[in-house]
Amino acid sequence: MKVDVLLGLQWGDEGKGKIVDVLTPGYDVVTRFQGGPNAGHTLEFNGKKHVLRSIPSGIFQGNKINIIGNGVVLDPALFKNEAGDLADAGHDLKEKLYISKKAHLILPTHRLLDAAQEIAKGDARVGTTGKGIGPAYTDKIARTGLRVGDLFHDFEKKYARAKARHEHLLAALSYPVDLAGMEQEWWQGIEYMKQFHLVDSEHLVNRLLEEGKHILAEGAQGTMLDVDFGSYPFVTSSSTICAGACTGLGVPPGKIGEVIGIFKAYCTRVGSGPFPTELKDDTGDKLCEIGHEFGSVTGRRRRCGWLDLVALRYAIRLNGVTRLVMMKSDVLDTFETIKVCTSYRVDGQETTDFPFEARENIEPLYAELPGWKTDLTRLSSEDEFPVEFKHYLDFLEEQLGIPVRIISVGPDREQTITRRAR
Ligand code: GDP
Ligand code: IMO
Ligand code: MG
Repeated sequence: MKVDVLLGLQWGDEGKGKIVDVLTPGYDVVTRFQGGPNAGHTLEFNGKKHVLRSIPSGIFQGNKINIIGNGVVLDPALFKNEAGDLADAGHDLKEKLYISKKAHLILPTHRLLDAAQEIAKGDARVGTTGKGIGPAYTDKIARTGLRVGDLFHDFEKKYARAKARHEHLLAALSYPVDLAGMEQEWWQGIEYMKQFHLVDSEHLVNRLLEEGKHILAEGAQGTMLDVDFGSYPFVTSSSTICAGACTGLGVPPGKIGEVIGIFKAYCTRVGSGPFPTELKDDTGDKLCEIGHEFGSVTGRRRRCGWLDLVALRYAIRLNGVTRLVMMKSDVLDTFETIKVCTSYRVDGQETTDFPFEARENIEPLYAELPGWKTDLTRLSSEDEFPVEFKHYLDFLEEQLGIPVRIISVGPDREQTITRRAR
């Protein structure tokens, strides 16, 4: 069997959590392979909303195996809150959640370093989620990180050494080290984690594949936030693209099956960095308001703009996407006309290649399509799609060269329409 990978093709928050939940019945295993509690994946069903950060979005659909892979960075304190809230709501994960011993730990001092480094950057700050993601991955690459598997051997000594090193860095940044409460919560989180299956997940994942199990890998963030191909340095610190699933799980490239790419019918971005189709006007405000575009982790207002096919084609190419999922189509229900960016003009030259740096010298060139002026949220089959919406989908498929197989028309699990293969 192979691992199907589901990932965001824009700047995150495309709706990955919802679609993983929808697709989970077709899989035996759901696994996260990168990122950490910077993610906020929202699921809605039976009138309830759940936001997951480090735990895979497959936990609500029966007794599937859920794995936090080696590529993830885990904050024990936040993990305890997240798993504890789920247990209180009747979702006990003890039997079905596996955590890689090779996943790296986010320390309280990583969070302080994240804040200190953002302040030091001044106007050039990334606008991180403040969860210590960058500093934890920095330690991983510098070979000074702490891993889940370290819990079992000389852990306190290793922790003290890392903390002392971080304190030096914080002192150099003149940032006060106040760990009041944070450390205690962190150590409680460490104890709490011990009740879960802490495993060599690369063996587990490959064994499950050999046994014929269907595995879905759930991406976090989005391709345009990838550390190599995103709008560097305004990116996250992990490989958010399909290749990240190989290193973040220990799966060879030949074992990757379908690559399911998710995008919103428009674009959003949280934090700093270039955003060629951003709308700083009433239309942008309207998208934000109708789409409830406020971050699920930080509550920050998301910047909004029209769909950008230059960026989307780039993301499809980098990931080898085999099928597309379009989210939040309903947010455009009331628009008279809808714009889609088909190319850029960069320094006077028209191009469809995403440039090295998406700076102010980019002018997006748009196609304008008629709006469908219909409430899509109540539709349940593609046969009911208004003609303008079908036209919009045909246009996207022609531009992107890949079928849009699933259309989301609302936040609820049920508001999902699967199209027939054509
Ligand atoms: P993720 O990080 O990719 O999982 O996405 P988020 O959960 O951060 O953000 C997606 C937001 O859109 C959540 O609040 C979802 O409940 C909501 N959502 C998902 N699909 C749809 C949809 O088709 N229509 C509308 N209106 N909202 C949706
Ligand atoms: P999900 O999985 C949207 C953004 C931050 C910031 C940059 C770096 O819910 O789609 P970090 O804390 O990772 O160092 O921040 O990346 N960012 C996200 N934006 N959705 C996310 O996750 C994000 N995770 C990080 O806003 O600009
Ligand atoms: Mg999110």
